[in-house]
Amino acid sequence: MTADANREQFSGARPRVVLGVSGGIAAYKACELLRRFTEGGASVRVVPTESALKFVGAATWAALSGNPVSTSVFDDVHEVPHVRIGQQADLVVVAPATADLLAKAAAGLADDLLTGTLLTARCPVLFAPAMHTEMWEHPATVENVATLRRRGAIVLDPASGRLTGADTGPGRLPEPEQIYLAALRLLERSALAGGEAGGEVADLAGRRVVISAGGTREPLDPVRFLGNRSTGLQGYALAETALARGAEVVLVSANVELPDPAGAKVVRVGTAEDLRDAVFEAAADADVVVMAAAVADFRPARPMDAKIKKSDADPEPLALVRNPDVLAALCADRPRAGQVIVGFAAETGDAAGSVLDHGRAKLVRKQCDLLVVNDVGADADGRSKAFGSPDNAAVILGADGTETPVQRGPKTALSDVIWDLALARLT
Ligand code: CTP
Repeated sequence: MTADANREQFSGARPRVVLGVSGGIAAYKACELLRRFTEGGASVRVVPTESALKFVGAATWAALSGNPVSTSVFDDVHEVPHVRIGQQADLVVVAPATADLLAKAAAGLADDLLTGTLLTARCPVLFAPAMHTEMWEHPATVENVATLRRRGAIVLDPASGRLTGADTGPGRLPEPEQIYLAALRLLERSALAGGEAGGEVADLAGRRVVISAGGTREPLDPVRFLGNRSTGLQGYALAETALARGAEVVLVSANVELPDPAGAKVVRVGTAEDLRDAVFEAAADADVVVMAAAVADFRPARPMDAKIKKSDADPEPLALVRNPDVLAALCADRPRAGQVIVGFAAETGDAAGSVLDHGRAKLVRKQCDLLVVNDVGADADGRSKAFGSPDNAAVILGADGTETPVQRGPKTALSDVIWDLALARLT
C-alpha cells in the first residue's frame, strides 16, 4: 500500500513508540521514519547510540520528535530512564539495527540507554537491520538474528540493492514507509494480544510462507497482453501481516505496482507459467502457500515476436491454449508434507449458482485446505467489491467443512483471519 494513496494512521489511543537508532549510514533514513510516526499520531522517544550521533545529531532527533534525546544511562538519572523508557513503550523499533546492536541485544548487554531500553521493554520489538552483505551473512549475525526471533522479536530481512559505496546485495534498510507499515501491523497485533510481546504476537515465527499476488499477463505480441483487474493489494496485505507475525515471507508478485513490503523476499513474475515455476520452487520448504494471485486460465496459442499490424483484412479469431492450474497442481503434489494450501475463489454468482455454491464446488475441485471465497461483483455504484479496493469481505471454506464468514473490512484484517485458520491447521 502506498503512503500517498492511503496514508494509514494509528487507530485508538496515541501509541508510545521508542525509535532506537544505531550507528550506520542508514541512520538518515530514520528521520523519515520518525516523521511518519509523528504524522500518524504516535508519541516518539528517539534513543540513538553514541555512534548513531556521528551520522545524525541529537538536535535533529529532538526537533523532529519534540522529545528529549539522550544516549547514556547517566543522563537524567533521577528519572531512571534506562528502565522507564522501555517499561512505558507500546513498541520499540530499532532502525537501522547494525550488526553490533543485534549482537548486543542477543547477548543481553545493557551498556547504554538503547540496550537498557531493549532489556526492560515488555512490548513488541521490531528490528530493521542494515549493514554490508558480508556482515548480514556472517554466522555470528545469523545466529544473533535467530536468537532474537526465537525470543519473539520481529527482525525484518534487509532489502537487496545498492549499499554504501559501490557494493550491491542484501543489507539495505527497507524503505521508511514500509518499516512504518510493519510497525503499524505489529501495534495492531499487540493491541489484540493485550499489549504483550512474544509468542502470541509472533505466532508465525519460524514459519515460512509463500504468497502469490497480482495478476498474470499473457503476451499477444511485444506490446499487448491478456490480463486481469487484480492489483495485488490482498496478496501484499497477506505479506505485511505474516511479516508482523514473524513469518519468513516469499512474495511471488505478478505485475504489481506496490512497494515491496519490508522484510519480504519478492520474486517478480509475468505469466502464469513463470508464476507456476516460482511458486513451486518456493513451496518446496514452505509451511503455508497462499494463492492470492489471479492467474490467467488461457494464453494466446501463438504469441507474436513482432507487433501485430493493423490490416484491411478481418482479424483472425484469437486461438488460446490452457494454462497450468497452479493451485490444483500444488494440492495434487503437496510439495511438503503437512503443508497448508490456501486458494482464493473470485466469484460473481450466476444462473448456475450463488457465489458460495461456486466456492464450495471449487474447494472440492481444487482440493485445497482453505478457500477464501470473494464476491468480485460490482457494488451499488458499479465499483468492484474486491479488485483495487482496500477492503474485502469473504467466506473462508475449510476442507473439514467449516465456513468462516469475514465481514467487510481492511484486507489486512481478512489476512489475519486467514493466518489464524492456516496456523490452526499447522499445529
Ligand atoms: N488458480 C491457479 N491457476 C490457474 C487459475 C487459478 O492457481 N490457472 C488459482 C488462483 O490463484 C486462486 C484459485 O485458483 O487461488 C481460484 O481462481 P479462480 O480464478 O477463482 O478460479 P478458476 O480455477 O480460474 O476457475 P473459474 O475461472 O472457472 O472460476
